[in-house]
Amino acid sequence: MPEWIEGRVIEQRQWTDRLFSLSVAARDLAYEAGQFIKLALPANGHMLARAYSFVNAPQARPYEFYYVRLPDGPLTQRLCRLGSGDAIFLSSRPAGFLVLSEVPDADNLWLLATGTGIAPFLSILRTETPWRRYGRVVLVHAVRFAQELTYREVLGGVQAERQGRLRLVSIVSRESAEGALAGRIPQAILDGRLEAAAGLALSASGSQVMICGNPAMVSDAVRALAERRMKKHRRRSPGQITVENYW
Ligand SMILES: Cc1cc2nc3c(=O)[nH]c(=O)nc-3n(C[C@H](O)[C@H](O)[C@H](O)COP(=O)(O)OP(=O)(O)OC[C@H]3O[C@@H](n4cnc5c(N)ncnc54)[C@H](O)[C@@H]3O)c2cc1C
Ligand SMILES: NC(=O)c1ccc[n+]([C@@H]2O[C@H](COP(=O)([O-])OP(=O)(O)OC[C@H]3O[C@@H](n4cnc5c(N)ncnc54)[C@H](OP(=O)(O)O)[C@@H]3O)[C@@H](O)[C@H]2O)c1
Repeated sequence: MPEWIEGRVIEQRQWTDRLFSLSVAARDLAYEAGQFIKLALPANGHMLARAYSFVNAPQARPYEFYYVRLPDGPLTQRLCRLGSGDAIFLSSRPAGFLVLSEVPDADNLWLLATGTGIAPFLSILRTETPWRRYGRVVLVHAVRFAQELTYREVLGGVQAERQGRLRLVSIVSRESAEGALAGRIPQAILDGRLEAAAGLALSASGSQVMICGNPAMVSDAVRALAERRMKKHRRRSPGQITVENYW
């Protein structure tokens, strides 16, 4: 059973009718960028808890989380009704392996996300580590609709600070959107559009890839990367791919 820490909502930002960012003040917790924690609300004598990636860098406060309200989602239907000053509970132990300390060095780092799967990458991009260890970083954000391409100001700030070393590729699947690729991440890997948009080669010899979000995307992307002789990275059997499934 996790130990629960009581926190307070500072602010709820609504991006679209379904997308929200929650900032929370709570006791100090140590974690590595890319990790997650459980957020919980009391429900009939137990805690209704789900995992959420930190969006803020480990040294920055308040804590920030990015989530989508699911039509029948037990927790997200309640999270979206929280406002400033409301109580929310956090598990005391951050966890997860979608972290750069688990990823080998390479020329380039590719971060592939669907939907809210961008959250851990925002935290990673706000730290010094990727800029110390990789020449270029490519963030690929794939969503259904263009209005779901959120956090553009934060990413623009990172681009300006890192002087062209961050490449952003947007993919929109259910409408045509200027400046974005159409379709899905795995197809864009297979047909070369992802590399063309990033202006960088995606190769087993020069790239490490982190993938987060929809589990069907994760497995299809891993299959597409296997065609380039890339495989999952394990401590005992080094490879190029590190993943996290959100469900
Ligand atoms: C390690 C980890 C980290 C996670 N981090 C985040 C995060 O930062 N932000 C976030 O929104 N969610 C995240 N999730 C998912 C989150 O834990 C919840 O499952 C989600 O918020 C829905 O909760 P719920 O109780 O409303 O519905 P649930 O009963 O938990 O989910 C209902 C269904 O909704 C779909 N679903 C769940 N999560 C998502 C999602 N993020 N995007 C699209 N469809 C989804 C799945 O089909 C799932 O079966 C993470 C999950 C894991 C395992
Ligand atoms: N977005 C909405 O407007 C909307 C509205 C009502 C309800 N919902 C609910 O909200 C939930 C979350 O929606 P979401 O849009 O945040 O997440 P999502 O369903 O995971 O979609 C995000 C992106 O991932 C893509 N994707 C899905 N399967 C993939 C695969 N196998 N390989 C590669 N890419 C894949 C989607 O493409 P495709 O578009 O091609 O699937 C989309 O571009 C859904 O379960 C849905 O029930 C969403």
